[in-house]
Amino acid sequence: MSSENAAPYFKRHIFFCLNERKNNEACCAQQGAQAAFDHCKNRIKDLGLAGPGQVRVNKAGCLDRCSGGPVAVVYPEGVWYTYVDQSDIDEIVESHLKNGQVVERLVTPAHLGR
Ligand code: FES
Repeated sequence: MSSENAAPYFKRHIFFCLNERKNNEACCAQQGAQAAFDHCKNRIKDLGLAGPGQVRVNKAGCLDRCSGGPVAVVYPEGVWYTYVDQSDIDEIVESHLKNGQVVERLVTPAHLGR
C-alpha cells in the first residue's frame, strides 16, 4: 500500500535531549532540559496544539550534539535549536511549531556536534 498521499500522523515533532551523564559531565539534563521539555509540553497542550495532525513533544536520549546543548530538534524540517530559558521555548512553540517559521536566532550553529 502506498503512503505517498497520506497526511503525516503528526504535523510536527519536537524531540528534547534529556540525557543525564554521571560524574558531572556536561549534558543537556544539567542545563534545564527537563524543565524546558515540561514547559513545551504544557504550552502545546494549553494552546490546543497537541494530538494527531498537530504537534507531538517527545523525550529523547543524547542526540549527539551535546556541545550545542541543551538542544531540541524539530521534524520534518530537521531544524536544531539551542535554547536558554522558557521564553525561548515559547518562541519556538509560537513561531515554528504553530506557524512553521524557524526561529533563526536560536538555531544551533552548524559546527556544533558532540
Ligand atoms: S547530552 Fe544532549 S545532545 Fe548529547
